[in-house]
Amino acid sequence: MTTASRFIARMLKNSTPSIGRHSLKLLPRVSSIYGTRFNSTSQPDPDRETGILKTYQVTKADARPVVSEHHEISFDDKKVLIPWEEGKTSYYQHLWLRDHCQCPACRHPETKQRLVNTFDIPRNIKPAGVEGSEAGLKLTWKDGHESVFPWDWLHLHSYAPRLERYLSPQFHLWGSEIENNPPEVNYEEVMASNDGVALWVAKIYKYGFCYVSGVPVTPQATKSLIERIAFIRETHYGGFWDFTADLEKKDMAYTNLALGVHTDTTYFTDPAGLQMFHLLEHSDGSGGQSILVDGFRAAKILREEDPQAYKTLSNVRIPAHASGNPDSSIQPFAPFPVLNHHPSNGELVQIRWNNDDRATMDRWDDLEDVEKFYDAARAWNDILRRQGTEYWEQLRPGRALIFDNWRVLHGRSAFSGKRRLCGGYVNMDDYKSRLRTLCSTRERLLKSL
Ligand SMILES: [Fe+2]
Ligand SMILES: [Zn+2]
Repeated sequence: MTTASRFIARMLKNSTPSIGRHSLKLLPRVSSIYGTRFNSTSQPDPDRETGILKTYQVTKADARPVVSEHHEISFDDKKVLIPWEEGKTSYYQHLWLRDHCQCPACRHPETKQRLVNTFDIPRNIKPAGVEGSEAGLKLTWKDGHESVFPWDWLHLHSYAPRLERYLSPQFHLWGSEIENNPPEVNYEEVMASNDGVALWVAKIYKYGFCYVSGVPVTPQATKSLIERIAFIRETHYGGFWDFTADLEKKDMAYTNLALGVHTDTTYFTDPAGLQMFHLLEHSDGSGGQSILVDGFRAAKILREEDPQAYKTLSNVRIPAHASGNPDSSIQPFAPFPVLNHHPSNGELVQIRWNNDDRATMDRWDDLEDVEKFYDAARAWNDILRRQGTEYWEQLRPGRALIFDNWRVLHGRSAFSGKRRLCGGYVNMDDYKSRLRTLCSTRERLLKSL
């Protein structure tokens, strides 16, 4: 142990008598000694306010770091070690710390972008001094530069070990019973304030879909409604669509045929995130009922009933294409599986399923995978078509439907007569950005970066 670290340990002990387990009990929960709980800021936190949304993304949140009084902070030529009261010790390399300096000279205070020149940092950089205080860990570098890392920031971004408390997303998985109480918000509310939009996107996040009632039955009002979340995504179908069954675009969506449940745009590397449908008119005919299926619930069932099928659909990559229009042939940069998982936490994040848009599958790792794939696809299809899975509803003018195309599958029954539908897509990243900024605090977001 170095003299400096002994000093730090002593200093921590002396100047902050409340860092131990014993003294923690004396403190209110929200006032951790070093740093602040992310949800204890003075601004109201809509996550809590609405009670709808506990987490909205792969989250790094709610750390309440307390530096242990029983062990000492130390540093050597390569790293700083911080022992936490919870019994773990984090390891931070000096090079990493210098590169992540949070000061205004190293990170632009407005744009939040990195200013430090990473490549000017000597590979074997070492601080001249290390000290702890209420504000955090202060490192003084040999050129005089100072870096202060708040304790909660250090805990949140600890990489060895990783200390983030991962909270599973609070999804409400539903079956056909959702017809009794489908999520809905009001058009006026959404148009009037960001609180209305916050409620809306929180419901979309939780349920994977939401209705908006009281929408004026015009394309213009529908377009403005979508734009409350984000700009509309342009595709080969255009931006905002307003269409009838005329095969203007060479896709079965532009016919009156029945469409089995699917997700849209499996042929994009980045499939459409949200999709809105607003029925403007259906006259001189019948049919055209809409069906929604909660794909995350269906996947959960598949995993329980047939783990092998779940594995197959998570691994076998399916090529997809959109080539009906003579001037285009859209394909993702690589084929993707049906079930796509987050690389670090394993959570299911995206379903890509459109059997009609599947291209020729002529790349197999193993010959047995061919049969395995057809078996798995059949098991999946059976779950999607079960009675308790399907939620049928007739769209009607004035009631727009929006859903998460990475989670909820949609389809419709065949119809007759004139049916005019409008709507559009929103990118997943833009919708999630809106969700994050409306349903969290700026402080919490910036700390998580
Ligand atoms: Fe579709
Ligand atoms: Zn700096």
